[in-house]
Amino acid sequence: MNEMDAARHIVAESRSIVVLTGAGLSADSGVPTFRNAQTGLWQRFEPEHLATEAAFRDHPSMVWTWYLWRAMLVRSVAPNAGHRALGAWQQHVRSKGGLLTMATQNVDDLHERGGAADVLHLHGSLFAYRCLDCRQQASFDPATTGVKADQHFDESTVLVPVACAHCDSGVLRPGVVWFGEMLPQDAFNQTIEALEQADLVVVIGSSGLVQPAASLPLIGRDAGAKVLEINPVATELSRNTDVHLASTAAVALPELLADSPA
Ligand code: APR
Repeated sequence: MNEMDAARHIVAESRSIVVLTGAGLSADSGVPTFRNAQTGLWQRFEPEHLATEAAFRDHPSMVWTWYLWRAMLVRSVAPNAGHRALGAWQQHVRSKGGLLTMATQNVDDLHERGGAADVLHLHGSLFAYRCLDCRQQASFDPATTGVKADQHFDESTVLVPVACAHCDSGVLRPGVVWFGEMLPQDAFNQTIEALEQADLVVVIGSSGLVQPAASLPLIGRDAGAKVLEINPVATELSRNTDVHLASTAAVALPELLADSPA
């Protein structure tokens, strides 16, 4: 039996499923991953200069504009066949009385635009904003800033962060989880609860290098779930999987979930 048949067999037997996704899922839509040797964001930019609260306090305009650029880039692309297959699968499993929890490290909205519901954003969202000081949530549309959705970030024009409308001192920051910050507890706890009762964990497009998200699949495995990984290359997790599909998300997921075997 080849890997795809083995994977389809496991999917067909599963009723309580957790899907964990990373940047690789959105790569096929044109959103750069973080650690790809050529195109990865952390190959082009220093995470400590852009993805920490200290960096935002030291260089507020550069960091603010960089996240506006990422938000506009995501707005300019569409969910791919992988996102759409996952959205349809979730609806199908739930229509049969099964459980399918979608948890992502991605800060884009492509899962939702691909038809998924109740997505748990473990690392926050590019489209959520709050005050750096009073932490009040705020709605803000990055499209009003004129920042372009180019593949390349234009460092020559940076914008001053928007002032908080609730407190006198604060400015808005993107609602993403920066290095050194806690994950949103609700999303994290809900993911762990789902993993503890899962019979299948599907990990898609993550290098498995960033904690605590990298340990989540093992919580499912230790609770007795099968672990299925989709990634063109082997990762830290691969030796702990039942099946590794060495493929891209947009190719493997439609094939794996065709006619929704579950
Ligand atoms: N389909 C599936 N997987 C892919 C594809 C694809 N088309 N293209 C690349 N990949 C795989 C890569 O092989 C790699 O293992 O996706 C993975 C992407 O890894 P990272 O760039 O490290 O992204 P991720 O694991 O999501 O990063 C975790 O790190 O920088 C922080 O907060 C950020 O959420 C992010 C976290």
